[in-house]
Amino acid sequence: MTQLKEPTILVIFGGMGDLTWRKLSPALYNLYLDHQLPERFAIIGLDMKELSPDEFDHRMRDGANNFCRCGGVDDEHWNQLAPNISFISGNFSEQAIFTALSEQIKVQEKKWGGPAIVIYYLATPPGIVVSIVHGLGAARLAHDREHTRIVAEKPFGHDLVSAVALNAVLTAVFDETQIYRIDHYLGKETVQNILAFRFANALFEPIWDRRYIDHVQITVAEQVGVEHRGAYYEHAGALRDMIQNHLMQIFCLIAMEPMVSFDADEIRNKKVDVLRAIRPIAEDKVFHYAVRGQYGMGWMEGDKFPAYRSEPDVAPDSPSETFAAIKLFVDNWRWQDVPFYLRTGKRLHASFSEATIQFLPVPHQSFPTSATLAWQPNHLTIRIQPQEGIVLRFQAKKPGAILHLSPVDMTFSYQKTFKSRSPEAYETLLTDVIAGDATLFMRADQVECSWSAIMPILNAWENTPPVEFPNYQAGTMGPETTEVLIAQDGRSWLNPP
Ligand code: BG6
Repeated sequence: MTQLKEPTILVIFGGMGDLTWRKLSPALYNLYLDHQLPERFAIIGLDMKELSPDEFDHRMRDGANNFCRCGGVDDEHWNQLAPNISFISGNFSEQAIFTALSEQIKVQEKKWGGPAIVIYYLATPPGIVVSIVHGLGAARLAHDREHTRIVAEKPFGHDLVSAVALNAVLTAVFDETQIYRIDHYLGKETVQNILAFRFANALFEPIWDRRYIDHVQITVAEQVGVEHRGAYYEHAGALRDMIQNHLMQIFCLIAMEPMVSFDADEIRNKKVDVLRAIRPIAEDKVFHYAVRGQYGMGWMEGDKFPAYRSEPDVAPDSPSETFAAIKLFVDNWRWQDVPFYLRTGKRLHASFSEATIQFLPVPHQSFPTSATLAWQPNHLTIRIQPQEGIVLRFQAKKPGAILHLSPVDMTFSYQKTFKSRSPEAYETLLTDVIAGDATLFMRADQVECSWSAIMPILNAWENTPPVEFPNYQAGTMGPETTEVLIAQDGRSWLNPP
């Protein structure tokens, strides 16, 4: 891990928000415990809510206590961290709060005797981002390109047009090199390991293409529903919330060409190449390439769960999809005509995120039919969560006098091999922002290309309201039409046992 030495101030806009409480505070506390924060490190929380610094401190501590993977906060460590936490409340649409922030930064820098790295973290609802960026610009808090950075959370736009507009707002004040767009999936160990697996080993790369691969499946399945986020989800839906970002990132890592070096832009260039090579989907053909669903009432492990339309802040006739599956093709030499199936959904039967590469069948079956009744093509499954690891499925001879082939698994488990727990995604990403390493963050063109790829689907769905919703029961693996999407190509979804 990079040695972090420079004094650093983390400015959190939306200090009282859910993200700060659930993710940032626990990650920061854990980094502190692991001695991964710079020695001189301060946090300034900002929020529209009128609160005292003590109340902010209490909220931060509560978040760390509830969600830190260390299991809870102890007084001794928190008391060391707390003196470096301050809070400013005010209206983000007024300049006064930015003037106060500027003063607070100066006070801190004076204490340290020199300039600090200042990171502005936008942990706010998207509607306020423009005001904050303008405020920072007007207060000249962004002009030092070397020392200031901004972290933008998803959703990064609502569609291609708004993403382009948001990028324009950000780049009018910050240089692209100062902007860190977060996709927390890129902070997950197993997602990062896709690059290591592909490009630090000579074994698989020669067969990683259309000559040996039949298709690729990427699934992020969740058992949870929309929880308390109905209001956000009503405007998002599964395609925007998950596929445009998290699943597309996994897709890029699987499909990209080898990078020449581990340079942030080199890796991001390779990802953009893949996104640009996605075969455009004609709007009138969307039904061949995409399926949507919305959960109805259902049962899971003996408990009854309400329909999406009965969740808080959700319209009783909501057209928002809680499930989406799409098929993509990448028009280049490596992937021509190899389908990539991506699916995600809420209130599904199981929670798992994984990518499976299914290889082509053997060109000639030499074994008698009686021996190959259980035969399966080779699969390589990258398990992102839970049970992080990689599983290679191949055929073996079953012990016994009669020749029978049986699929068996060769499994690498993170837990068993490395014994230590992986850092949370936000720990990794915060460390990288502090170190100024943008490799795991999305560049403007990447975000825009990803939106471009799904725009025909979004448009088609918006133009044709769903008449069949809800079309899957909570606790199942999505609507029946998802099976049709893949079965029409003679394939089927692979679910963990
Ligand atoms: C978020 C989505 O980005 O990712 C949520 O907005 C989703 O809807 C979450 O539940 C899933 O993340 P993870 O890390 O729990 O797989």
